[in-house]
Amino acid sequence: MKLIGPFIQALPLAGLPLKGPLRDEMLEVIADAGVLVQDGKLHAYGNFNELRKQHPGADLEFMDEPLVLLPGFTDCHTHICFAGNRSRDYAMRIAGKSYLDIARAGGGIWDSVTKTREADITELTENTVARTNRHLKDGVTTIEIKSGYGLNLETELNMLRAIRQAGLYTKASLVSTCLAAHIRPRDFDGDEKAYLQWILRELLPALQEEHLCERVDIFIEETAFPVAASLSFLKEAAAKGFRLTVHADQFSSGGSGVAVEAGALSADHLEASTEQDLRRLAASDTVAVVLPGASLGLGMHYAPARKLLDAGACLAIASDWNPGSAPMGDLLMQAAVMSAAEKLSTAEVLAALTSRADKALGITRGGADLQAYPCRDYRDILYYQGRMKPAFVWKNGAMCE
Ligand code: NIG
Ligand code: FE
Repeated sequence: MKLIGPFIQALPLAGLPLKGPLRDEMLEVIADAGVLVQDGKLHAYGNFNELRKQHPGADLEFMDEPLVLLPGFTDCHTHICFAGNRSRDYAMRIAGKSYLDIARAGGGIWDSVTKTREADITELTENTVARTNRHLKDGVTTIEIKSGYGLNLETELNMLRAIRQAGLYTKASLVSTCLAAHIRPRDFDGDEKAYLQWILRELLPALQEEHLCERVDIFIEETAFPVAASLSFLKEAAAKGFRLTVHADQFSSGGSGVAVEAGALSADHLEASTEQDLRRLAASDTVAVVLPGASLGLGMHYAPARKLLDAGACLAIASDWNPGSAPMGDLLMQAAVMSAAEKLSTAEVLAALTSRADKALGITRGGADLQAYPCRDYRDILYYQGRMKPAFVWKNGAMCE
C-alpha cells in the first residue's frame, strides 16, 4: 500500500452522471487530501492525516508543494501515428486557399498517406511514442489512436503494428482503431463501395488474425463515404465483432444518425449536426465526441457542445490530434478554450475528459491514473486555459519520470 499526498484538493470525479448537464456543486472536492494506491489501483481517497493514521504501514509518497489532484485524462480520438507534417497546407489555408487548391497543390490527407507509406515501422513507432509521451506529460494517461494514413493492406497493418509496438514503449494506455475508411485511396481500382467491401473482406480479417485492433471507424461525408454504404459497412463490421466509432457531421449532417443506428460507441466531430441529430444522439447510448482542435485548426465554428449537453447527451472532448486539421495536440488547452465559447461548466469539461471519454472508448478505468497541478484551487486549471500543466503524473500508481 502507498499513500500519496498531501494535496490541497483532490477531485475523484467518481459517480458523476454520464449524460446531461453538470453543475460544479456536483463535484466532490476533498481538502487536505491523500490517495491510497494498492497494486497500482486506487484504494481510497480521504483526508491525508486520517489516512496516515489509519494506514501506518503504508509507504509514503510525500508531496511538499501545493497541488490539486485529478484523475488522468482520456483522449478518445487521435490520429497520432503518421509521418511527415502538413505545415505547407496550413500556411495555404490561413492565407485563404480553398480545400481544393490545397489538394491540387499535393496537400490534404493523401499527402500524409504518401509520407506514411514511405516510413518504416520503426519510424512510425518512434513518432507515435514521442507523441504519446508528450500527451502523458500533459496528464493524458489513456489515448485512442487511429490508422487511416495507410489505406492499403501493407501500411494499414504497419500503422496498427506500430501502435501496438508503441504501447510497449510508453506508459500511457493505448487503444487502437482501424480507420481504413478515411478516404478511398487514389490508387484503389474501384469506387467507394468496392473499397469498403475490400476493407470488410481483406483487411478486417487480417487485423483479427494478428489481434491488432477491435475498433472500426469511418469518415461519413459526401467527399469521403456516403450515408447508405457507411451504414451497411458498419453493420457488417459489428457482425465481425468490431466496436464502432464514426467521423460524423463534420461538414454536413448524416453521419451521427448512422452512428446511432449502427449502435456506435461514439459519434465524433458534430460541427454540422442538426437539432434532430442532437436529439437523436441524446436519446441514444452513443457518446457525442466534440473536437475543438479541428475547429481551431480549420478556423471553423465549434460543435454545439452546450446544446448537446442540454439535450441530455453524453459529451466527451477529444483532441483529434492529426497532421492536417488538428496539429496542436493540446487537449486541455483545446477543452478550456472551447468551454469559454460554448459555456461549459468545469464539471462538464472534467467529465468530458475522464469518465465520459472512457465511455466513448467503452472502457472502465483499472489503474490509479492521476495528475497533480501546481495550484491551490481546481478552478485555476481551466482559468489558465491549458498553459498550466501537471507537475506530476502517475500511471497505475507509479509516478512518470
Ligand atoms: O478527424 N475528418 C477527417 N479526418 C481527420 C483529418 C485528417 C487529416 O486531415 O489528416 C479529422 O479531422
Ligand atoms: Fe479525426
